[in-house]
Amino acid sequence: MQLIQSISVLALAAATYAFPNGAPRCKITESIIAAGHKIQQGSLGLVMQLPATYTPGGAAIPITVAAANGSAVSFAGVLAYMTPGTVMDSSFTAVPIGTVNVPNAGGIKQHVGTFQNLGAQNLRAQTAAVCTAQNVTNDNAASTITHSQPLTAKTPFTIMWTPPTNNAGPVTVNMVISSGSSRTPWQIVPSGQIQSTAGAAPATPANPATPASPATSAAPAATAAAKKNGKKTKKNKAANAAKAATGAAAKVLNAVKAAAAKKAKKAN
Ligand SMILES: *[C@@H]1O[C@H](CO)[C@@H](O)[C@H](O)[C@H]1NC(C)=O
Ligand SMILES: *[C@@H]1O[C@H](CO)[C@@H](O)[C@H](O)[C@H]1NC(C)=O
Repeated sequence: MQLIQSISVLALAAATYAFPNGAPRCKITESIIAAGHKIQQGSLGLVMQLPATYTPGGAAIPITVAAANGSAVSFAGVLAYMTPGTVMDSSFTAVPIGTVNVPNAGGIKQHVGTFQNLGAQNLRAQTAAVCTAQNVTNDNAASTITHSQPLTAKTPFTIMWTPPTNNAGPVTVNMVISSGSSRTPWQIVPSGQIQSTAGAAPATPANPATPASPATSAAPAATAAAKKNGKKTKKNKAANAAKAATGAAAKVLNAVKAAAAKKAKKAN
């Protein structure tokens, strides 16, 4: 009886903090985080403060999360990674894997660069198996990071990030912050972009139509392919595909905007 009681006390203690030793995922998916935390996303008033550029193969740069009003906001958990392109990964993870005409539906597979000095900040690389299970390919073990224990962190909070050796073009910072235990506020920090000093990522030589930076260039690439194509039927098909891709991407972004607006309204 006593043993059973102490076991349930332990279980209760574990349950009060959602994920004490790190997020159990390798991608930021709003619906899944909401389920895990038993509360919908709310605003912690957080924003990114980022340098304008990175240099492929160059020095580490600071990735900072801060309160928009400059105050010290305490938080306990984090999941962060950088993706190629200029679109926040959570707008892709909101779309089911395999959705036609939405490139990157289910999330961008590649997480680029490496976060530094993790141990000193009670952070750790996400478990490889967790990322593999979600089809994520990390450049390095520490391309995707989370907390290793409940943090007693305060904004502004900076994590150094070493860019990839190969030019990834513009990259997007993806980060979710949890204030503490289950049923306490959490927020996907509005993402920011960092340009590459080497410009756009090189196109894949074998297939020039392959988008260089996955998120945004799919529709233009398809349009270019359509323009190049001499045969009318093929031309139309490609043009329609381009239109559909543009439409689907716009829909995704609009849905995300609408959700954000709804939330902002709720918060007010
Ligand atoms: C600043 O924003 C935080 C939320 O990020 C809020 O808790 C705090 O009260 C705000 N402080 C001021 C002085 O407005
Ligand atoms: C992983 O990739 C496989 C093969 O493309 C696909 O069938 C599966 O749905 C993907 N799973 C996830 C979680 O992305």
